[in-house]
Amino acid sequence: MHRLIKAQIDLRALRRNFEQARERAGRRAVWPVVKANAYGHGVGPVVRALADADGFCVADLDEGLMLRELGVTAPVLVIQGAFSGAGLRAAIAAGLTLGVHDPEQVKLLLRDAAQLPAGSLRLWLKLETGMHRLGLQTEQALKVREQLAGLAAVAELGMMTHFACADTVDHPLTDAQATEFGMATLATNGPVSACNSAALLTGAYQSDSVVRPGIMLYGGTPLLGRTAAGLSLAPVMTLMSRVVAVKDVRAGESVGYGASWVASETTRIGLVAAGYGDGYPRHAPSGTPVRIGACDVHTLGRVSMDSLAVDLRTAGHVRPGDEVVLWGRGLPVDLVAAAADTIGYELLAGLTSRVARVYSGGERD
Ligand SMILES: Cc1ncc(COP(=O)(O)O)c(C=O)c1O
Repeated sequence: MHRLIKAQIDLRALRRNFEQARERAGRRAVWPVVKANAYGHGVGPVVRALADADGFCVADLDEGLMLRELGVTAPVLVIQGAFSGAGLRAAIAAGLTLGVHDPEQVKLLLRDAAQLPAGSLRLWLKLETGMHRLGLQTEQALKVREQLAGLAAVAELGMMTHFACADTVDHPLTDAQATEFGMATLATNGPVSACNSAALLTGAYQSDSVVRPGIMLYGGTPLLGRTAAGLSLAPVMTLMSRVVAVKDVRAGESVGYGASWVASETTRIGLVAAGYGDGYPRHAPSGTPVRIGACDVHTLGRVSMDSLAVDLRTAGHVRPGDEVVLWGRGLPVDLVAAAADTIGYELLAGLTSRVARVYSGGERD
C-alpha cells in the first residue's frame, strides 16, 4: 500500500468510550449505533471490538444483514425498518429487529402477518415526539401497538423515539419529547429506547431500557459547547497523511483553484496528500486547523481532490515526508468540523473508501 493518507483506528479508545457509555447507562442495555460503516470507522472491526454490546443499531436492512454476515449474533435494530414483503422476510430470516415509523409499514405488516411464522417478528414502534423526521404520531402509535400486539407473528413490541435537540443542555424540546415519550410508554412491557449520546451524557432521559449511543463511542462530542476531551472521550480515528512538497509563493501570487488565497508576503507553503477525494471537506476555508508534528498550522486556498495547502510561516522546519494529522489525536475532529461549518459526524462518516483504515488495539494486537 503506497498511498500516504490513512486513517488510524484506535480500538482501545473505542472500548474506553464504550465503557463510559456503559457506566452512564447503569442498568440499561447499550446498543451502539454502527450505521454508515460505523461512522466511517469500518463496521467489521468496530463490532468485533464491541462484541460484548447488548445489541447494535443500523439505519437500513442491508446494514443489518451485513452485521449478520460478520457473525454478529446480538440483537440488531434496523431503524428505518422494512418497506416490502421481501424485506420483512429477509429481516425475519436474519433475526433482525425492525423499526416501524410509517403507516405504510403498518399496512404491510397487517397485510403479511398472517403468512409469517408465529413469534418471528421483533418490532420497535418509532414515536414522533418532536423531531418531525421518522415516526408515528403518539396517538397513532398507541393504536398500532394494540393492533400488532394481537398478531401471532409478533414476538416483541418495543417503543423508541429520537431527540431533536439533546445536544443543547436543558433544551425545552427535549423536556417536551421526554414527557410525551414517558407518558406513551408507561404501560409497555417491551423494550423502550430514547437516548442517543447527548441524552445519555446529560441524563435528559433515564426511563428507557435500551440506550443508542453513536458519536460518543467514536470520540466526538455530542454536546454543543463541550469538547470531547472535557467529556473524557478519546478520539478513535486519526486521519494522517504526509507533506509531499514545500515551496515559497511570492506576494501577489495565489494558491489553488479559483486563486481564492493570495499571498500578502513571501509565504512558505506545504502541500499535503489529502483532499476531498479522501473525504476531507472541500468547503473547509483557509484557516482550517492542521497539525504537523507538534505545530499547529492551517490550510490555505481551496481543498483539491487529492491535496491541500498549508501555511508554513510558523513551521519553517517542515520538510516533504513529514507526518500530518488532519484530525484525531492532537487535533479534535470537532475543531476541524467547526472551522468547516459542519459537525464531526459528517467528517468521520464521509471518509471515502480509498483511505485505508489501519487498526490498533484489537484482539490480534
Ligand atoms: C435513531 C437514532 N438513534 C441514535 C443515534 C445516535 O446518535 P448519536 O450519534 O448522536 O449518539 C442516531 C444517529 O443519528 C439515530 O438516528
